Amino acid sequence: ENGDAGVEVARSLRILDNGFQHTACMESSITFIDGKRGALRYRDVAIQDLFHEYVYEDVMHLIVWGALPSSEQKDEARIAMGQAAVPPKSVVDVISAFPRDSDTFPMILAGLSAFAASDKIISATRHQQKPMFHGHLEVADQAIMRTISYLATTIALIYCHKNAKPFAQPETGRSLLGNLLLMLGIADPEVEKCLNKLWILYADHEMTNSTAAVLHAASTLTDPTSALIAGIVSGYGPLHGGAIDLAYEAFRQIGTPENVPRFIEGVKRNKARLFGYGHRVYKTRDPRLSLIEELMAAHQDAVDSNPLLRVAMAIDKAAKEDGYFVERGVKANADLMGCFLYTAMGFDTDMITAITILSRAPGVMAHWRESLVQPVKLWRPQQIYVAPLPN
Ligand code: ACO
Repeated sequence: ENGDAGVEVARSLRILDNGFQHTACMESSITFIDGKRGALRYRDVAIQDLFHEYVYEDVMHLIVWGALPSSEQKDEARIAMGQAAVPPKSVVDVISAFPRDSDTFPMILAGLSAFAASDKIISATRHQQKPMFHGHLEVADQAIMRTISYLATTIALIYCHKNAKPFAQPETGRSLLGNLLLMLGIADPEVEKCLNKLWILYADHEMTNSTAAVLHAASTLTDPTSALIAGIVSGYGPLHGGAIDLAYEAFRQIGTPENVPRFIEGVKRNKARLFGYGHRVYKTRDPRLSLIEELMAAHQDAVDSNPLLRVAMAIDKAAKEDGYFVERGVKANADLMGCFLYTAMGFDTDMITAITILSRAPGVMAHWRESLVQPVKLWRPQQIYVAPLPN
């Protein structure tokens, strides 16, 4: 008899949780982070084990489908993803319509939209009622593989268009990474070997801002390509993946390690942000950093040839020793350090954030898939209305 009153009480309970620092929005079995101990596990396997024993393609399957793949499963996914990666003319036309010096991220949104506009499988996932997915995730899985491939092709088309390079068509016998490098025209096996490890570290990171944006959109039962677009919009914001571009800009402005102390004092005095530093979850060392250092050691000469790295290392040393950063637990984040591998391998800084977001795409798609088998509940946070002050 108290049913209605109970609903009333539940609906009137409002918690103002600025930045959602204390609010969980999902139950998930994909990724576990212990930010105090510095541990990271995908599907309950430690990141260190995955990094040392597997390549990205295996980890992609593990994250999205919950198990390491058989060779048949790998082949099937390669065929589906390779076919989906071939761009229709409408997508090529959309990308080539942009001036070559356009901002990369709006181009990505346009390319993904052009792919989705003519894909019946993608729109089917939007029109299918969620309970119908139960036990029948074949269409969803097709849509996931297509969405990831669409992002890879869009990034490659943008890179080729901006650099006036020919675009090579993807092939069905290659992995996602193999096809990306083919489309970009990069034929160096060392680059593929290095990215096969680096991408494992970025494949998922539980409820990041962009993953939450994907899930927020997904709660309306939208399709995965549209949900990914929402995630990418979050992903390139300056406090998230876009921090890397700003960090590089700062390194360039600082110029030499001798200018670092003055820069650090400026950050402290103005309470400015040191981009590429700080993390909501890790207050101890990010466990991925030691694995990135292993990769950097294996490519030491190429990494050292980057003059910006000397500036970055001087900042890192200063931040490690300075009480301001130590007390607040502000440390370099893994995305920043991974960038030095990309620059060492010859990637333009302009494309690094985009490629890092691609390496995360299977992770966010795993979350989208997981949301299909949880009870349907539209995400609709509350606000606290505050009356305007009288004039
Ligand atoms: N530079 C300088 N000071 C910082 C930094 C930083 N990068 N990060 C945090 N702090 C300071 C804050 O000023 C604050 O100090 P105060 O207590 O004196 O006010 C304290 O540390 C706590 O910071 P918050 O902003 O409350 O921490 P939050 O968990 O909200 O922020 C965030 C996390 C947004 C990542 C923050 O560290 C930041 O802005 N970093 C710079 C942007 C960046 O590199 N983002 C990439 C994150 S990784 C990724 O998304 C791929």
